[in-house]
Amino acid sequence: MSKIQVNVTGAESFISANGLEALRPDGKAAFEKLTDGTGLGNDFLGWVKLPSETSNELLDDINATAARLRELCDVVVAIGIGGSYLGAKAVIEALSGAFDSYKPNTGTKVLFAGQNIGEDYLAELQDFLKDKKFGIIVISKSGTTTEPAIAFRILREQLENQLGREEAGKRIVAVTDAKRGALRTLANTEGYKTYVIEDNVGGRFSVLTPVGLLPIAVAGFDIHALVEGAREMEKGTLAGTDTSAMTYALYRNALYRSGKKIEILVNYNPKLHFFGEWWKQLYGESEGKDNKGIFPAAVDNTTDLHSMGQWIQEGERIIFETVVSVATADRELRIPFDESNLDGLNYIAGKRVDEVNKMAELGTRIAHIDGGVPNMQVVIPALNANTLGSLIYFFEAACGISGYILGVNPFNQPGVEAYKKNMFALLEKPGYEAETAAIKAKL
Ligand code: PA5
Repeated sequence: MSKIQVNVTGAESFISANGLEALRPDGKAAFEKLTDGTGLGNDFLGWVKLPSETSNELLDDINATAARLRELCDVVVAIGIGGSYLGAKAVIEALSGAFDSYKPNTGTKVLFAGQNIGEDYLAELQDFLKDKKFGIIVISKSGTTTEPAIAFRILREQLENQLGREEAGKRIVAVTDAKRGALRTLANTEGYKTYVIEDNVGGRFSVLTPVGLLPIAVAGFDIHALVEGAREMEKGTLAGTDTSAMTYALYRNALYRSGKKIEILVNYNPKLHFFGEWWKQLYGESEGKDNKGIFPAAVDNTTDLHSMGQWIQEGERIIFETVVSVATADRELRIPFDESNLDGLNYIAGKRVDEVNKMAELGTRIAHIDGGVPNMQVVIPALNANTLGSLIYFFEAACGISGYILGVNPFNQPGVEAYKKNMFALLEKPGYEAETAAIKAKL
């Protein structure tokens, strides 16, 4: 049985039986494109068998590097953006204790930079690192992305000023292309420890490569269990015995064709906030092209029931929801009985907090379905490294299938270049003279 249970009963009534049946051949063809490599972007299918092809020796090597960084550093800054940031952030947030970052002496902390160009963010990070033993993992597949390059230049200078170039170099690890890019050249010149991002794995599919695994290991989490969870999912999915990814891909496309243009990924566990951010990037960059694609949004419930809940319940009916549900909470906490009962809560005294949360989840699903919002549920048994690995592979596989059903190349992101071109033109980057003239004429 699949570790991931996809419950589509809340979506059925919004899709005609014909609509779904008509999609099945497209789903089959999409799956075959992924497995035989005959689809668009087929030079980026390295992620399909990545979990099973990842050796335990590589994982041990990553763990050894992580242990060395943990020994040398109180803080490690993971520098990267997009696929070189979100996977690690999502997994670390999902597995960390909610208040771990406020606790002293709980091991090396992983912070992030290069995912924005916030001057205040970087200056405040510099202040924070001033009296800390810190290291850097700089991650960029292309090795040329502006945001991480700026952050790395600033933090590398700080580290070298603190320790000298040689000692700083021992605390810097680069994850980048095997041969190309400015970061590869710099890493080779400075003799940094490096890990390679294979050519055939795109950024947003790279969380299970050293891109995600090294920061996750530094944060102290079990990368063997994470990859093992993905391996299990890969095995079932590719053998066709686990059809959960296919089901999800088919239903979301059927809903899209019935006019539901926005998908909201919903969680009822605050630790999954950044998992929603990772998912948004995976689906947004993979599907939003050729003037097509479901717009991926995310909410954290029950928090957002008191903000976005109104819109979801009664706004324009162009949305559907996918709830990522964690079957069992890790901890047990019961609501106490109170003699005075002034808050009127004694009717739930003795119940676990998670039971109340689950009733909020169920009540909301029913209310939204009644209000015209189709609802799917993706259930994992518990939140741990192993289930997260399975969930990551599930969403990656479904994304590949879904993108091919939609008829796009799920593995490129040509639209991302537009802002870069304008930014370089405005900053008068050498080589952009014509663009600079053209954009200035518009101002
Ligand atoms: O999914 C993608 O390919 C992108 O989001 C990239 O991960 C992102 O642009 C960062 O690129 P790079 O790792 O080359 O710096």
